[in-house]
Amino acid sequence: MVQRKKIMGALVTATVLMSLVAGCGAKTAEPTTASTAPQATKAADAPAKAGDGKVVVGFSQIGAESGWRGAETQSIQDTAKADPTIDLKFSDAQQKQENQIKAIRSFIAQKVDVIAMAPVVETGWEAVLKEAKDAKIPVILVDRGVDKKNEDLYTSFIGSDFIVEGQNAAKAMAEHLGDKGNIVELEGTVGASAATDRKKGFDDEMKNHPNIKIVKSQSGDFNRATGKQVMEAILKSPEGKDIQGVYAHNDDMALGAIQAIEEAGKKPGSDVKIVSIDGIKEAFEAVKAGKLNTVVECNPLLGPQLFQAAKDLKAGKQLPKWIKSNEDVFTGQKAIDALPNRKY
Ligand code: AHR
Repeated sequence: MVQRKKIMGALVTATVLMSLVAGCGAKTAEPTTASTAPQATKAADAPAKAGDGKVVVGFSQIGAESGWRGAETQSIQDTAKADPTIDLKFSDAQQKQENQIKAIRSFIAQKVDVIAMAPVVETGWEAVLKEAKDAKIPVILVDRGVDKKNEDLYTSFIGSDFIVEGQNAAKAMAEHLGDKGNIVELEGTVGASAATDRKKGFDDEMKNHPNIKIVKSQSGDFNRATGKQVMEAILKSPEGKDIQGVYAHNDDMALGAIQAIEEAGKKPGSDVKIVSIDGIKEAFEAVKAGKLNTVVECNPLLGPQLFQAAKDLKAGKQLPKWIKSNEDVFTGQKAIDALPNRKY
């Protein structure tokens, strides 16, 4: 009898231990990115439960590499905050694709209504997008795209035509240079659709301007400090001695390049013409100061379109595959006139 009691006791202890271990395992295996992300938009809100009427949207943001990115985050968070029918789960990936994948898996586990993401690079999404599809959760791409071969794995893309932006930048550069000269290209993050397509659009248009030569092309990772460092190094290199233009895939890198050019004793805006993409206020101010020549706009204020799309999906509506942004090009006085009304 005593022996049987001992065996039963040992069995109970083993079962409890096993379930604890299993519990721990489940916890550590749980994706944590969303919950450890800098800020959930509505920190005070209890997580929305099915049937409470809210549209639950999980958004995986790339990070905070530029003024443009900050404006996009703000637009998404502010729009969600102002709309009581939306529950936003926001996750900041700090430039790492692996963090975005973890966040998406976390959103799938939480059974959100819609997953939205700004993919840091184009490739490497197939597996996780398939998981979302299997879980019947629609995915909206915001701002950046993924590989063409994964087109059936997302519902809709909201954002700009980066190829057109690159073409417009090239046209402006050709005009500033009187159709001839040597230029430097500061590219965005390697593998990002915004960088690949802005390069493609620029190169395509440059075929019409054979006397303009790109003497150096290098990534500045879409951020100001790297843009400045890269420009400093180029200015010291043999190719950098005779340049008349800089094409930067975003404003932050252009602003970094402007500092480097000034420190090298040249005048940005006149000795070296500068064309960049985004349209942040600081870039417009640089145009006003005569240091930047053209800003090609890329709209980051995508919050309203994103949540309208999420609501439409929840209501069973069909979305267009591409919801395009309206954008403009600003040079000289047009930029100066627009400055007081810039929203980002
Ligand atoms: O994907 C859009 C680009 O990403 C913006 O041009 C840039 O500023 C950002 O970091």
